[in-house]
Amino acid sequence: MDRIRIVGGKPLNGIIPISGAKNAALPLMIASLLTDRTVTLENLPRLADVSLLVRILSNHGVDYSIDGRRQGEEQDAGQTVHMTAREIVDTTAPYELVSRMRASFWVLAPLLARCGVAKVSLPGGCAIGTRPVDLLLMAIEKLGASVEIENGYVIAKAPKGLQGAEISFPKVTVGGTHVALMAAALAKGTTVLHNAAREPEVVDLADLLNKMGAKITGAGQSTVEIQGVARLNGAKHRVQPDRIETGTYAMAVAMTGGDVLLEGAKAEHLQAALDVLAQTGTSVETYEKGLRIFRKDGDIQPVNVETRPFPGFPTDLQAQFMALMTRAKGVSRITETIFENRFMHVAELARFGARIRLEGDSAIVEGVDRLKGAPVMATDLRASVSLVIAALAAEGESMVQRVYHLDRGFEALERKLSRCGADITRISSGG
Ligand code: EPZ
Repeated sequence: MDRIRIVGGKPLNGIIPISGAKNAALPLMIASLLTDRTVTLENLPRLADVSLLVRILSNHGVDYSIDGRRQGEEQDAGQTVHMTAREIVDTTAPYELVSRMRASFWVLAPLLARCGVAKVSLPGGCAIGTRPVDLLLMAIEKLGASVEIENGYVIAKAPKGLQGAEISFPKVTVGGTHVALMAAALAKGTTVLHNAAREPEVVDLADLLNKMGAKITGAGQSTVEIQGVARLNGAKHRVQPDRIETGTYAMAVAMTGGDVLLEGAKAEHLQAALDVLAQTGTSVETYEKGLRIFRKDGDIQPVNVETRPFPGFPTDLQAQFMALMTRAKGVSRITETIFENRFMHVAELARFGARIRLEGDSAIVEGVDRLKGAPVMATDLRASVSLVIAALAAEGESMVQRVYHLDRGFEALERKLSRCGADITRISSGG
């Protein structure tokens, strides 16, 4: 297993290109199951989750090809991938694959919409909580599917096709909204989603579906209308920049000090987090080519934060923000309202000397003057990167273990950071 060695204390200066968003790429790839024509995705990030999803989709019959590097293209430029599900050869998504990546459960929607049947393993819990799928199943039942659970598998059937319906989500769910959009796109009649997720990734999926011939209006708002169509075509689409990667590097710069351009980042995708960063005393400037984040001198001010669905402060940046607050001049309260168990980084941050106390769904962070390097263990994707941020600001050497978590969601992390002056190296299992 690879490890990452970081010697902290160096400011970050330079340019970090922002990759395509993992959480947009995954549903966009899954949407290729909805048509027998080719869906071309540009700016697809090179991530373990993307490779795993390619494997899962190819099991259902998706052919794929990846364009080679083009003249003048950077080594880390996103990939262009062509995906064609000419024929669905298997409507079952097995436990071995779904249990490795929760988002793959979403194949349920396109398989059901296109083939009238789908058998998909329940994903099970994960490190950040129980993460049920009841609302995803509610959505497809509303669209007329029968749903049974047998031996750990969801068996959904709609032999005569899906029927448009009103779907009201009692809680905002990104996955539930993705599933409803994909299923309703091929249903007969009109579907209206109430209390839909408004995340930029939902808008990206709706954009692709519309390019494929779907009739979706209102994506990005709480009420979304979908007029079902009989079939969808191929399309070409560019994956949006990763707002969580953007926020992560922004927090890193806020913590180490320095001046970095986050190239390609879009401020409107993470305005709540940028507003909070500004309150900490970090400068944020928006340009057409990206976001400039800089902090020269001065203390990091403590700010209280509560995670919320978009446009609120994202749960996927909570751990990184906590890392930043460990060095603040004072006490901050960070409340997690989306997932019930997303504080595994607390114990690991304490290994750097951070002072954090848990009170129910909140962490009370008492800023300290300095962090000291330590060996730490990655537990999930976002928690792991919070340890990297803390290590970049800590004095001396840190070793982050189990970095395969990072590889699921951060493209070329060490390369991007070391180009900006960080002392960070990967030690592969053999090394
Ligand atoms: C997506 O997960 C993201 N994953 C998560 O990012 C992100 O943290 C989350 O949205 C919230 O923004 C991907 O896009 C691949 P939800 P998702 O359904 O769709 C509850 C990362 O690190 N709920 O919006 O699974 C659920 O338990 C990951 O990249 C139900 O109760 O999240 C949670 O409390 C981690 N029943 C809340 O809703 C359901 O049927 C929001 O979950 C579904 C969800």
